Amino acid sequence: MYVIGIDLGTSGTKTVLFDTKGKVIASKTVEYPMYQPQNGWAEQEPLDWWNATVTGIKSVIAGINPSEIVSIGLSGQMHGLVMLDKNNKVLRKSIIWCDQRTTKECEEIESKIGKARLIEITANPALTGFTASKILWVRNNEPEIWEKCAHILLPKDYVRFMLTNEYATEVSDASGMQLLDVKNRCWSKEVLEKLEIPEAMLGKMYESPEVTGHITKEIAELTGLKEGTIVVGGAGDNAAAAVGMGVVENGKAFTTIGTSGVVFMHTDEPLIDSKGRVHTFCCAVPGKWHVMGVTQGAGLSLKWFRDNFCEKIKLRAEKEGVDPYYIMDKMAEESPIGAERLLFLPYLMGERTPHLDADCRGVFFGISGMHQKKDFIRAVMEGVSFSLMDCLSVFGEMGVAPTEMLACGGGGSSKLWRKMLSDIYNTEIFTIKSKEGPALGVAILAMVGAGIYGSVEEACKACIEKATVTEPAAENHEKYMSFYELYKSLYPVLKESYKALAAK
Ligand code: XUL
Repeated sequence: MYVIGIDLGTSGTKTVLFDTKGKVIASKTVEYPMYQPQNGWAEQEPLDWWNATVTGIKSVIAGINPSEIVSIGLSGQMHGLVMLDKNNKVLRKSIIWCDQRTTKECEEIESKIGKARLIEITANPALTGFTASKILWVRNNEPEIWEKCAHILLPKDYVRFMLTNEYATEVSDASGMQLLDVKNRCWSKEVLEKLEIPEAMLGKMYESPEVTGHITKEIAELTGLKEGTIVVGGAGDNAAAAVGMGVVENGKAFTTIGTSGVVFMHTDEPLIDSKGRVHTFCCAVPGKWHVMGVTQGAGLSLKWFRDNFCEKIKLRAEKEGVDPYYIMDKMAEESPIGAERLLFLPYLMGERTPHLDADCRGVFFGISGMHQKKDFIRAVMEGVSFSLMDCLSVFGEMGVAPTEMLACGGGGSSKLWRKMLSDIYNTEIFTIKSKEGPALGVAILAMVGAGIYGSVEEACKACIEKATVTEPAAENHEKYMSFYELYKSLYPVLKESYKALAAK
């Protein structure tokens, strides 16, 4: 018996076929572009996600008897807005999670609902990254599109619709729309009424392991899957990664460095930061929640540096048959802690935790004539790690501390980046054997939905094993902390200048 986990990321969609112990049988990733038509805007083409999914499914099930594939789980980048007309035609490119155009709409949301009431219901302040403000932006700026809009879906739920013909979502991803009553795990009638968004436009709500639909005849013919194969709710990428790492108990936590960076902690209760610096969302374990801090530009910062300044490294990597990031890691290792006094603020796409500022942007601070590429690479990695430390510090201020920290994502697979996190957090960092994160997470949810395991916790015990542990070094921690203090002092000084720059 097999299950499929599909993870619709920002750089590509990864489709993985697993056995029922979480072992990878086949995997396929298909990449696609992100469009940035203006500074601070970010869009993707929903049809790219769909085509990548179809290619992925066809590739991983080749040679497998389709009746052996019992269930499918979907994971994906959160918050993106997909709008369909009454004939299910995509109305515009999706405005995705890291888009920052909606500052005005966030003010509109807070004035219509009230800041405190909004946090009480949706567990979060109005945020430019979240879906509600994107919906209002389209209504305010593209009324001809809004007029035609009949359905609003999140990225992975659009793919679900294409697979099953069902308009459905689940609580973890829906938490990031800012339309959900996060404590009660249902659409908030009050928020929807005040924002004048008809509930009929939204998908039906499920818990993550629940069956939301079945593969249609047409899709069975297109992909080779069996008609009627179940598709479970799945989860937003971070909630899915948590399941894929076994972070399903109170206090367990992980740090992921993907395009964005996240520090995530599972909680039995919906804990809310009154300043709204970290998100409180429903998690993929029915009836539980998580808190998470988000660094907008984590892996994105290093990718940006690689793509703009590392041509020679890329050529060398190609010749040597290695990943350019491998060479970049080795170079960064040759630069000392503090990168010879070079600091980086990773705010390329604005920042969420802890600043909630759509206008801030990246900074290299302290550039000297002696600095070399290796110092810049190290500074980027350290700056991202400091930003993740900011996330962890907010948990501390809320009076909660993780009992265990794991690392995952592309950046989490770098030994150097893990060591930095361990030294900066001053805690052990574990990894698990599987590298599949969100795809494994939703495959586990698919197993639970298919009745192979009785609960998410039980399935995690059967499928997940720890791999490595990185120990912190006290002297490194001290060195990092002195740079971290300086790092923290830079944003407040620049705050007004960022606003001025954005107003240009
Ligand atoms: C979470 C968030 C990102 C995206 C993209 O709130 O915006 O983690 O899900 O990965």
